[in-house]
Amino acid sequence: MAPLISLHEVTYRYGDGTTALNRLSLSIERGERLALIGANGSGKSTLFLCLIGILKPAEGSICFEGKPVQRHKAGLLELRKKVGMIFQDPDAQLFCLDVYQEVAFGPSNLGWGRDMVKAKAEEAMRRTDVYHLRDKAPHFLSYGQKKRVAAASVLVMEPEALLFDEPTAGLDPQHAKEMMDFIGGLDAAVCLSTHDMDLAFGWADRVAVLKDGNLLAQGDPPSVFKDAETLEKAALYQPMTLRLYRFMQEQNLLPHTACPPRSVDALLKLFPSPPAGGSRRLF
Ligand SMILES: Nc1ncnc2c1ncn2[C@@H]1O[C@H](COP(=O)(O)OP(=O)(O)O)[C@@H](O)[C@H]1O
Ligand SMILES: [Mg+2]
Repeated sequence: MAPLISLHEVTYRYGDGTTALNRLSLSIERGERLALIGANGSGKSTLFLCLIGILKPAEGSICFEGKPVQRHKAGLLELRKKVGMIFQDPDAQLFCLDVYQEVAFGPSNLGWGRDMVKAKAEEAMRRTDVYHLRDKAPHFLSYGQKKRVAAASVLVMEPEALLFDEPTAGLDPQHAKEMMDFIGGLDAAVCLSTHDMDLAFGWADRVAVLKDGNLLAQGDPPSVFKDAETLEKAALYQPMTLRLYRFMQEQNLLPHTACPPRSVDALLKLFPSPPAGGSRRLF
């Protein structure tokens, strides 16, 4: 079966001649969680904008379920039903007078009946925990609330793939965790961009490394993140959990496990429980 989305040798150049994507080939499978990691300027946002048809690559092809994306109006409308993007900056996405209109905008445009639009918009607002804000102007919401409204306005279309551009950037730890819990509960394929290596390590099924518009590496998180040299080339770093785990193994503090732990909690669980009444001392 063809991948849900596939890019073949995609090149994108901005008007000033910057090559933001350079013959990039990548696919997104149904239901998978793909983390796109790369330093600032590596091409993550450009890739997303190409995927939802806002930018048109100079060369290469983008297919949805094996069929090339059609660039006429009907084709792009069809694409946006299936692939939704949550922009890094919610202000770039929100423009309606109140939250309800914002969330209802997409389905209304698709010509869904009034009752159906209302039911779907309410469901999306509940899922993103913004229902209580439905009469408010998006402009006056907090940054985290705006992000959730932006997510609702995309989720309402029930897309098969969701692209989150740096979803936790600018959020405090509690809201970042809530955002990741929300993303974790989605059934659709999710591709998120981030330069938070620990987040990518803990969350993704697959990781793709971008540098200057080139795909440097891709694969499952343990194999991508053990390659410190490639990460360094991409101006990235190994996840803290992985570094601590390796260090503790070298110091014979931990036995070797087939799969490295992918979160601090999973790492701590590798230590034997202290004897009853005893305290847990490592050194
Ligand atoms: N509108 C634009 N005009 C010219 N160059 C741009 C524009 N937007 C982005 N770029 C350039 O394209 C490259 C990729 O940018 P971007 O996709 O925003 O990267 P990322 O999202 O990984 O930070 C960078 O070199 C950036 O400076
Ligand atoms: Mg970006």
